[in-house]
Amino acid sequence: MDRIKIVGGQQLNGTIPISGAKNAALPLMIASLLTDDRLSLKNVPNLADVNLLARILRNHGVDLAVDGKRSGPAPYLGETFHLTARDIVDTTAPYEMVSRMRASFWVLGPLIARMRKARVSLPGGCAIGTRPVDMHLSGLRALGAEIDIDEGYVIAKAPNGLVGNRITFPKVSVGATHNVLLAAALAKGETLIENAAREPEIGDVAECLVKMGAQIDGIGTSTLRIQGRDRLEGAVHSVVPDRIETGTFAFAVAATGGEVLLEGARAEHLQAALDALKRTGASVEAVPEGIRVSRQGGEITPVTVETQPFPGFPTDLQAQMMALVTRANGTSVISETIFENRFMHVQELARLGADIQLHGDTATITGVKALRGAPVMATDLRASVSLVIAGLMAEGETLINRVYHLDRGFERLEEKLSRCGAIITRVSEG
Ligand code: EPZ
Repeated sequence: MDRIKIVGGQQLNGTIPISGAKNAALPLMIASLLTDDRLSLKNVPNLADVNLLARILRNHGVDLAVDGKRSGPAPYLGETFHLTARDIVDTTAPYEMVSRMRASFWVLGPLIARMRKARVSLPGGCAIGTRPVDMHLSGLRALGAEIDIDEGYVIAKAPNGLVGNRITFPKVSVGATHNVLLAAALAKGETLIENAAREPEIGDVAECLVKMGAQIDGIGTSTLRIQGRDRLEGAVHSVVPDRIETGTFAFAVAATGGEVLLEGARAEHLQAALDALKRTGASVEAVPEGIRVSRQGGEITPVTVETQPFPGFPTDLQAQMMALVTRANGTSVISETIFENRFMHVQELARLGADIQLHGDTATITGVKALRGAPVMATDLRASVSLVIAGLMAEGETLINRVYHLDRGFERLEEKLSRCGAIITRVSEG
């Protein structure tokens, strides 16, 4: 199993190209189920989660070619995927696949909309919390799907097709918004989604659906009005840059010092995180090529941060912020309001010498003078990368085990960091 070895204490200087967003690429790939035409997606990141979803979609009958060739583990940045769901041969998404990646549950809406039936495994819990799917199901029921749960599977049918309706989500959910939005694009008539998630990845999917022929008003707001179509067409779409990868590298630069251009990044997609980063003392500037982040000496100022749905501070950057303020010159407070169990990194950061107290959904972090390298364990994707940031700051060597978590969501992480001066290598073992 691969491990990552970091020798801390190096500044980061240079340019880091930002990849396409994992959390947009996944639902965009799923959108291919809505049409028998070809959907071409540019700037798809080469990640374990993307490759797993490709396998799941192939199982449904989707034909996938990468840049005109059959897909394979090509290591190129920003591949183009051509997906064609001419014949959907299987409307079952099995447990073995859905349990490995929750986003694959989002095939449910498109399969019911197009095939009028679907059998999709419930995803189950995961390291960051229980993560129910009740709002996905109530949203799809409102569009006319008949849904039963049997032996861990959602069995859904809509013999006469889905029909538009008004859906008001009781709380903001990225996944439920994706699932219902995708289904509504092929439903009869108008669907109104109120309290929709506003994450940029939702906007990216909505824009792709518009290119495919749906009419959608309110993109980027919490009210989406979708006029469904009998049939959607193919389209060409480029995946939005990854705001979480952007934020992660921005926090890493603030942690180590130095100056890095995050090429292609869009500041408006992570303004709350950049504002919080500025409060720690880093300098952040939106420039035509992306975002320039620097910290030239000086102490890290402690901050108080609470995670919120977009446009608030993202839960997917909470662990990285925590790693940064372990070295602040005072006490920071970080509250996690989205997932109840997203503090798995706390124990591991403590192994490097961080001083963190947990009380319910709030972590109180008292800055220490130095972190010291140690062997640590990656637990989930964003927690793992917080250990990378901590390792870059720490004195001596940090060895991160279970790096397959990182490979799910960070493309060429070691290469991007080492090109900016980090000492970071992958140690492969039989
Ligand atoms: C998406 O997960 C992201 N995943 C997550 O990123 C991200 O952390 C999360 O949104 C929040 O921003 C992808 O985009 C693939 P939610 P999702 O539904 O859709 C509750 C990463 O590291 N809820 O917005 O599963 C839920 O329990 C991943 O890339 C219900 O109660 O998140 C949570 O408390 C991790 N009922 C809250 O809503 C439901 O039916 C928000 O979850 C659905 C959700």
